[in-house]
Amino acid sequence: MRVLVIGSGGREHALVWKLAQSTRINAIWCAPGNGGIGSERLLTNGSLVQCARIAVDDFATLSQFARDQRIDLTVVGPDNPLAEGVVDFFQAEGLRIWGPNKRAALFEASKVFAQQFMERHQIPTARAGTFQDAEAARKFAALLGGRCAVKADGLALGKGVLICRSPDEADAAINQILLGKTFGEAGRQIVIQELLEGIEISLHAICDGKTALLFPTSQDHKRALDHDQGLNTGGMGAYSPTPFLTPEKMAEISRLILDPWLKGCAAEGINFHGLLYPGVMLTQDGPKVIEFNARFGDPETQVYLTRLENDLLDLLEASVDGTLDRIELKWSDSSSVCVIMASGGYPGAYQKDLPITGLESAAEVPNVKIFHAGTAFAEGKFRTAGGRVLGITAWGKTLSLARNRAYEAARRVHFEGAHYRTDIGSKAL
Ligand code: AMP
Ligand code: GLY
Repeated sequence: MRVLVIGSGGREHALVWKLAQSTRINAIWCAPGNGGIGSERLLTNGSLVQCARIAVDDFATLSQFARDQRIDLTVVGPDNPLAEGVVDFFQAEGLRIWGPNKRAALFEASKVFAQQFMERHQIPTARAGTFQDAEAARKFAALLGGRCAVKADGLALGKGVLICRSPDEADAAINQILLGKTFGEAGRQIVIQELLEGIEISLHAICDGKTALLFPTSQDHKRALDHDQGLNTGGMGAYSPTPFLTPEKMAEISRLILDPWLKGCAAEGINFHGLLYPGVMLTQDGPKVIEFNARFGDPETQVYLTRLENDLLDLLEASVDGTLDRIELKWSDSSSVCVIMASGGYPGAYQKDLPITGLESAAEVPNVKIFHAGTAFAEGKFRTAGGRVLGITAWGKTLSLARNRAYEAARRVHFEGAHYRTDIGSKAL
């Protein structure tokens, strides 16, 4: 089979790396890809993965490419093309593609839709209201004592959520989004949720419209600095499994969250083929969904796929074809940890095009895989090309073994200004 992966981050590198181990794939393309993706070789024939310089939102060129290269399956990584309907576009052209269609992607693309869906189908979530009117929004926030999360409805590069702890902060957030229009059209409506206390985990379930198979737990680290200080980022590191949920509790999560979600989708005619990624707060009153994403998490994918023992192509095809009920997910007993090495200044402004050294030495640490995110490769050298640069991923029998390996590898990699958190996975130890 010939496969095209859309995207250019660490998540897509992990998807490509895992697909390259499939016994049924003999060509992989990635659009646009990154410096590391083009260095992967296929298990079947040793050929290199190839990157195609096509933007993720250029559907016409992507679909033409898929036709020209006789691609059998296109796999979509990022949220934006899904929200804009890349799946519908490909399907209308008779092309096979993995990911939710535009309507199904609304779970991530519209927080108002997701919140109201959860309320319609009794999925446990935060107490919340949705607003277009600033005065009504302020009244609701005041009822919560100002302790709330104010969220722009649409996609806002992961920056559309403002956490508030006083009525003044809530007023400022509401004004900023609804009146100041900082997020443009994405902030025409907002969701205000009560602030939940607890441990936040990531769940992933692969879905085919009828069946949802739940992955083990993982945990992301969204703040830039150790001990959850600093600004929110796309994710500074992840590990899996987490020790917070027993198998019994996982079964309960399936019953409380996935069952009503599947039933709700069926009742509303939403045909979700893809990856559902609920962000869940484990509160004293049980698990509560704070948001849905409609794609693999980044960097959760890096830790999941270094533990997954199935052929990823089997899962993605079953998700497209509606045959996930015939699949059993298999995970290694080991723990995986991913430490993100970021550019100096990220998530604020940062310099690009800095040389990266030490990658070969880092790759010699046992059970380590370095996934590239913001890198470019030219004239035999890797250089930085984004905020999150590398996802240094390691696995081992225990979480501490995996962590030690990831950090040993991270210490061997250098670029000017590089920074990473030193406490990834420490909440579990
Ligand atoms: P989201 O994009 O909805 O995941 O929000 C970004 C981050 O804000 C989440 O990862 C949480 O850490 C935090 N957050 C969002 N909603 C809530 C909430 N209702 N209570 C507490 N924290 C929240
Ligand atoms: N792990 C954060 C995200 O993928 O949105």
